Amino acid sequence: MQYFRYQEQELWCEEVPVSELAQEFGTPLYVYSKNQIVDNFRAVEAPLTGTDHTVCYALKANSNPAILTLLAQEGAGADVVSAGELYLALKAGFAPGRIAFAGVGKREDEIEYALNSSIFVFNAESTQELQLISLVAARLGKKARIGLRINPDIDAQSHPYITTGLKENKFGISAGEAMAVFQYAAGLPGIEVVGIHTHIGSQIVKVEPFVEAAGFVAGLVAKLREAGIILQHIDFGGGIGVQYSNALFHEGLPHENPGAIPPPPGDFVRAVLPTLKETGCSLWLEPGRSIVADAGVLLTTVLYTKENGLKKFVIVDGGMNDLLRPALYDAYHQIVPVKITTYEHDKVDVVGPICETGDFFARDRMLAKVKRNDHLAIMTTGAYGYVNTSNYNARPRPAEILVNGEKVRVIRERQTLDQLF
Ligand code: LLP
Repeated sequence: MQYFRYQEQELWCEEVPVSELAQEFGTPLYVYSKNQIVDNFRAVEAPLTGTDHTVCYALKANSNPAILTLLAQEGAGADVVSAGELYLALKAGFAPGRIAFAGVGKREDEIEYALNSSIFVFNAESTQELQLISLVAARLGKKARIGLRINPDIDAQSHPYITTGLKENKFGISAGEAMAVFQYAAGLPGIEVVGIHTHIGSQIVKVEPFVEAAGFVAGLVAKLREAGIILQHIDFGGGIGVQYSNALFHEGLPHENPGAIPPPPGDFVRAVLPTLKETGCSLWLEPGRSIVADAGVLLTTVLYTKENGLKKFVIVDGGMNDLLRPALYDAYHQIVPVKITTYEHDKVDVVGPICETGDFFARDRMLAKVKRNDHLAIMTTGAYGYVNTSNYNARPRPAEILVNGEKVRVIRERQTLDQLF
């Protein structure tokens, strides 16, 4: 079900007209649908019923404490990449035995914190990291459970900044070295090798790269077994793509280019499950975006419109400090009026107030005609939205709201000017 929808001419989130939220809490404002998050999580988990599994939510996508608490209550595990994320996961109630610690550059103090917290597994990415984890574990009189992140050299066919499974990427241990590094790890005193980890990239919109990666992982698990290294655990990473264009339809909105339409999240899981299950290993997944992306919108207010002879600009009160994805990746987000008051359209650039040409949300985009004080919703911004906010231009970070039916909760206050000094 879609929890953001038009009811006649007005955008609603669950049982609340979004314009009321903009009025009451001001803009820029992140608004999330609780039930969309829960539905998304269950859609990934459903095909795994009957399989020994954990769906670890990747905190990096959105680490608002209320959202983390919600997912912990749903029974999610956690994929963390820093002491900060581990701290948030533990505080939100994720069971330590369902936490994986990933990342190419773990610090010694972070390793110690994770060991003392009894997390389930470190996904290790280099021999030097293995040595350090072993040393710290031995010093604490513990054994660290390890999964080795192997880079399968598979093209995820995504944006180059978020493709991680190619030879030239910094992530993991190359496939050719895998056997030797597994053998090396197995001999280290502070380490117990339990599994293998892959994550080939993010915003993947086809199942084929996943199927290829599953074949690679299953093949390697079999080879390792022949060599006497018995793995019990596969962490297959995240990366399930979502639909960014055509997030919403209304007859009054301009036609959107179709863009990439990924299959539903459960289809990705179903496509790899038989191959991975055959290994006899428990299966962990680390979805981030597919759990929260379409559960969030960023509301902004039109400050001014202007024309320079060549272009028309819609200047809004949100900027690249509030949502970085368009500036960083030229990412596409549908932008819609919160109230549809006209069926006339204009080709415009939607830009923010920040002193950078890269401060845009859309360029040469057909948009419903807008005027000062109209509210616009930037769609599908629940993932990698708030987490990438900054105080650039000394702009306070926006507030965050969680809607559940008719209930509205402020889950993060807007920063104040006082907090900037
Ligand atoms: N596991 C690992 C090891 C990862 O590096 C990532 C994402 C995930 C899981 C979660 O992937 P997801 O299911 O969300 O695709 N800022 C970028 C995305 C960066 C993704 C980084 N790693 C964006 O806004 O598109």
